[in-house]
Amino acid sequence: MKFLVTGGAGFIGSNFVNLMSREHPEDDYLVYDALTYCGNLFSIEAALGRKNVSFLRGDISDEAAVDALFGRERFDYVVNFAAETHVDRSIKDPKAFLRSNVEGTLTLLEAARKHGLKRFHQVSTDEVYGMLPLEDKDLAFTEESPLAPSSPYSASKAAADLYVLAYHRTYGLNVTISRCSNNYGPYQFPEKLIPLVLTRALKDERIPVYGNGKNVRDWLYVEDHCRAIDLIVRKGDDGEIYNVGGHGEKENIEVVKLILETLGKPLSLIAYVKDRPGHDLRYAINPTKVSSLGFAPTHRPEEGIKKTIEWYLSHRDWLRKVEDGSYLAYVKEQYGE
Ligand code: NAD
Ligand code: DAU
Repeated sequence: MKFLVTGGAGFIGSNFVNLMSREHPEDDYLVYDALTYCGNLFSIEAALGRKNVSFLRGDISDEAAVDALFGRERFDYVVNFAAETHVDRSIKDPKAFLRSNVEGTLTLLEAARKHGLKRFHQVSTDEVYGMLPLEDKDLAFTEESPLAPSSPYSASKAAADLYVLAYHRTYGLNVTISRCSNNYGPYQFPEKLIPLVLTRALKDERIPVYGNGKNVRDWLYVEDHCRAIDLIVRKGDDGEIYNVGGHGEKENIEVVKLILETLGKPLSLIAYVKDRPGHDLRYAINPTKVSSLGFAPTHRPEEGIKKTIEWYLSHRDWLRKVEDGSYLAYVKEQYGE
């Protein structure tokens, strides 16, 4: 089978390609990625050394390039990871999210409709459902929860999902959608909470915690997400949505303290700062439907986060390569340093 993996040089996409190209030597994986500030070929070095992986630099919203690629390659499966993904950046520059996340997905869908394929899989997010209250710990998002995105990022992901479902209904395109909770693990760009705390703590820099730190995220080890996507692509039902999560809920402040304690750094590094506008209080996933395909998470956040810390400590060269000038300028603007 031939896979197109868009955004395969980013955090989750690179883990997917590294893992799947090793476990499925019979399949071919073409990574198509614009290599934006967070896309990095260093993250797929292992995969690129294999016969069944190739790379092409390009933008998913470039109609001519995408059409030519689909015409040339005849993919069986498309797994669309490519997106602008950071909520804070979407608050500063919403238009970039419309272009990559909505127009980009539409461009891929159009090429898939024209050239045909076995399945188009859209990698979406639990953030399309908006937020849950902090008080009712039993509430979790199901596939039937209404769409209620809070940020320009999640609004763009919800819009893309609706296009995917419309292409299924109107044109009969074979599609699946996964909506996953927060991922952590190797190769995550350091702007996101876990690698941000880790990298700043290593430099004894202050750790910015938004609001009171009581917001809850449902953490899943990235390889578990990748295995769920692979299951959905191969075994999921046409036109269906699958929520993905592993009951890994934690308050942000618990995650921050766990990282500082593991590194032996003082809690006095924590600085409570101005809250993120529109900050969702809590996410939690009901994974019953994806579990029926055979999905089961392999890591609890406590041990998975420690394993992730060890990975970052032994891959400081990767960190040095990705923390370039544009990232440092972003940090300065975002955190006022
Ligand atoms: P990331 O920001 O680490 O990587 C995104 C990748 O997409 C980068 O390699 C980037 O270069 C590429 N890209 C961006 N715009 C592009 C364009 N127009 N054309 C081609 N390539 C482009 O993101 P991630 O955290 O790996 O997320 C991957 C997907 O998973 C996204 O769709 C995101 O919405 C979704 N998701 C992420 C999480 C999470 O916790 N990180 C959870 C659920 C869902
Ligand atoms: O739920 C899935 C989503 O998870 C994905 O769709 C997004 O692409 C991904 O970025 C992530 O979104 P979050 O906004 O939850 O992740 P982030 O790492 O930015 O923030 C996690 C929590 O930590 C959130 O409550 C905000 C808080 N935070 C974040 C940063 C960057 C802080 O307190 N301080 C910070 O400096």
